[in-house]
Amino acid sequence: MKVSRKKYCLAVLFMIATLLFTACNGTDLQNQKTNVPHEDENLIVIGVSQLGSESMWRTANTNSLRETFSRDNGYFLLFDNARQKQENQIKAIRSFISQRVDYIVFSPIVEDGWDTVLEEAKEAGIPVIIMDRNVNVDDDSLYTAWIGSNFEKEGEDAGRWLEDELRGKKFSDDQVNIVVLQGTANSTAMIGRTEGFNKIAAEHDNWNILACEDADFTTAKGKEVMQEYIDRYADIDVIVSQNDDMTFGALETLSENGMTTGTGGDITLISFDGTKTALEKVKSGVINVDVECNPILAPDIESIISKLENGQSVDKINYVEEKVFTQKNVLSVLDDRKY
Ligand code: AHR
Repeated sequence: MKVSRKKYCLAVLFMIATLLFTACNGTDLQNQKTNVPHEDENLIVIGVSQLGSESMWRTANTNSLRETFSRDNGYFLLFDNARQKQENQIKAIRSFISQRVDYIVFSPIVEDGWDTVLEEAKEAGIPVIIMDRNVNVDDDSLYTAWIGSNFEKEGEDAGRWLEDELRGKKFSDDQVNIVVLQGTANSTAMIGRTEGFNKIAAEHDNWNILACEDADFTTAKGKEVMQEYIDRYADIDVIVSQNDDMTFGALETLSENGMTTGTGGDITLISFDGTKTALEKVKSGVINVDVECNPILAPDIESIISKLENGQSVDKINYVEEKVFTQKNVLSVLDDRKY
């Protein structure tokens, strides 16, 4: 009888010890974040999936994230560059989920194909903040907030500027031949800018959009597609280039072909982004107008995260402020432009 009570007590003690060990170990696992050094465990861990490094805009956006989500500011940043591949972004997001980061921030290269991975993030209880471009998902509870540009408005701004310009020059009734260098197919920036500009173009029967081709937001492709346009069309009045990098490529081709753009040139040149290099060309009159796209998104992302950390609610959709630059107002920003 004595022996069996001893055995019973030992068994109970063993069970309690096992339970305590499992519980402690479980807590540890929950708090432990893979790849985060022990001394950084109290920092907020952010997993960022950047879509690539195709443009000056993108570099400025990446720098803004790196500067804001620094150790000094209380963050541990896991940064992944997807090199223009959606599959790499999905892989990175899955790795952030398995590392149990506190927040996932990502700029989707294209709009479709995100449902499954975002469901996985939601199941893991990790808030997702989408920046710059957007996703096309049925259930918008799959992400916490989106922050970026109103791309459609950017396209409309470009169209309205062209309207004013033609009116000012008394060309409103002339035939206007337009070619468009488009950004990455199926990206929000390309879709929005195209739709916005086309909306204004549809109001003018004399605006002829001769071609709209993918130049992938890069200088190399901008150069290549511009040459194809020159070979194909004898009379181009307006170039709409959906980012500054493609504009730089187009300018190289135009100059090789002895063609000029801008306030004193043969062709009207419309660009998007408003990087410092491009604004210099607005100042000198080579680019007629540059519709701004603001890459400095990280401070606003940080304020969304601070609110979430304090249990406050956040707006789902957050647009950043943007301007339109011509020779008339470009000097007001040029000196302070960091990118
Ligand atoms: O999504 C924003 C766009 O992507 C910028 O206009 C372009 O430069 C970048 O690559």
